Amino acid sequence: MCGIVGYIGSQEAQSILLDGLSKLEYRGYDSAGLAIYNGENIGFCKSQGRLADLKQKLETCLLPGNLGIGHTRWATHGKPSDENAHPHTDEQKMFAVVHNGIIENYAELKEELIAKGHVFTSETDTEVIAKLLSDHWDGSLVSTVQKVVQELRGAYALGIISEYEPDKLVAVRLASPLVIGVGKGENMIASDIPAILKYTRDVYLLDDGDMAVLTPDHVQLMRVDGTPIERETIQITWDVKQAEKDGYDHFMLKEINEQPRAIRDTLAGRIKKGRVDLSNELSISKEDLKNFERIHFVACGTAYHAGMIGKYVLEKLVRIPVEVDVASEYRYREPIVNERTLFVAISQSGETADTLAALKEAKRQGARILAITNVVGSSVAREADEVIITWAGPEIAVASTKAYTSQLIAVYLLGIYFAQMLETQSEQQLQTWVEELLQLPDKAASLLQPEQVEKVESYAREMSKHSSLFFIGRGLDYAVALEGSLKLKEISYIHSEAYAAGELKHGTLALIEEDVPVIALSTQKVLAEKTVSNVQEVKARGAYVLGVTNEADAELSKTADELISIPATLDLFAPVLAVIPLQLFAYYACLQRGFDVDKPRNLAKSVTVE
Ligand code: F6R
Repeated sequence: MCGIVGYIGSQEAQSILLDGLSKLEYRGYDSAGLAIYNGENIGFCKSQGRLADLKQKLETCLLPGNLGIGHTRWATHGKPSDENAHPHTDEQKMFAVVHNGIIENYAELKEELIAKGHVFTSETDTEVIAKLLSDHWDGSLVSTVQKVVQELRGAYALGIISEYEPDKLVAVRLASPLVIGVGKGENMIASDIPAILKYTRDVYLLDDGDMAVLTPDHVQLMRVDGTPIERETIQITWDVKQAEKDGYDHFMLKEINEQPRAIRDTLAGRIKKGRVDLSNELSISKEDLKNFERIHFVACGTAYHAGMIGKYVLEKLVRIPVEVDVASEYRYREPIVNERTLFVAISQSGETADTLAALKEAKRQGARILAITNVVGSSVAREADEVIITWAGPEIAVASTKAYTSQLIAVYLLGIYFAQMLETQSEQQLQTWVEELLQLPDKAASLLQPEQVEKVESYAREMSKHSSLFFIGRGLDYAVALEGSLKLKEISYIHSEAYAAGELKHGTLALIEEDVPVIALSTQKVLAEKTVSNVQEVKARGAYVLGVTNEADAELSKTADELISIPATLDLFAPVLAVIPLQLFAYYACLQRGFDVDKPRNLAKSVTVE
């Protein structure tokens, strides 16, 4: 997501900041900016787009000076633009602030500041921090920052400089990473280690609630309440390439491991007092909802598989008929669309040409458009009437993992929110769902524990020796089977098919013979017996079966050759957990076969052609 770099020392800050930001490019961003103190005042340069765009701008507005902060922004509050790019400042440009994270109470703070006469020039939550600094200025940078952070709720890593005290660079961390690089006659801050590795390998890691005050020769660490902290620096021994991946071998593995965080972030702020609240994001009223006679989920690939779950969830919870289509087929089947249609586009990138084309067609025919996307300000988001952002953070590996589980969370939130509005479910039932949703981050994390991962790895290494593999499941498990199969094909190039378990006997069973590997999912209690019968059918033909099931389900464990257990959860939410071992299975199968995990052949991350 966003990247922070700050420098104080005797060298020109501009090139160091730009170099540091370039090392954070892998995190994904849509605008960038610098603020540098030139001996008299703070100069700013900001640009939407890539660092190359910022560099081009800097050719005409040079920023000399030895104290500065820089930022790459991945839009959250407000679209990607020059105005919304960081650093942000106050009206007199006495302070400059860069920020990673989200200030949850920014709207109320902004309102108070506007009432006091402050004028905002961006749509960001960050700008309130700059205005608060100027509003609360008490003659000391450290104590003013301390006062301001007391008022902030949410997650933040901050870098702050001020014309009042240009011998200091101040950093604060709460739930958003920040490191301090200790050099000789110069010190730095960064949101991630690669940004400073060229200059120093000695770093302090800040903990939540820590603050650091940097001068060229000294770093003072304290808690935000001023209590001093004694801490040793640590020596970084890894290289830049490894650091970008947080020590993981591949982005895909890193992103699989980020799922508990991505799920938590997608839920954050959307459940209030035990109820789903999307009223800040959606303008759909109860009347609008009553007026919809159909919902269309439209997406491609992995996002389409999330749409299949969406159909199930919305129909079950909201009782409105739902259709789900792959976007490239949608327009050509002449779907029935009118102003009583709610069209839901799901797209990680928000730039997929097929999805965008289907969306535009539905819009032309009068449908209300809701986008579920991971990228603020993307084309799909801009075309939509309503947007739900999945807070998975940038996904770099071509094979989608954390975006998928975040899309599922968005779909569950939407289903529960609509069910609350239409009162189609009992209060008690709704509450049970909400409570269980909040458990999912921890349950997902338990599937990423070493002993679980090693088990999946050993099955993947063995089963990837085969040239063909089947995934079967019923109901929601069928949708997850499709996703597991797609993951495997994409990166390991093993032929695989996903089948509705009950459909095998209508033809595909002919392909099952001695030793053919079958991954059987059974997480849906009402379907468990039926699925086990289908597993017996493939076992009788000699298949080798790896079962994936909830801990409590004993039936499948008696039938399958091997078993992966997922934590017990409500049937509705099992896909979020069941998919994780399948993602790991594909990852380790790919490793076993020696292919490029993050960049599989013939595929692109964002497919902008129809
Ligand atoms: C598979 C994968 C693709 C995408 C599809 C849609 O791992 O990543 O199938 O899901 O290309 O992309 P978005 O979600 O960006 O529209």
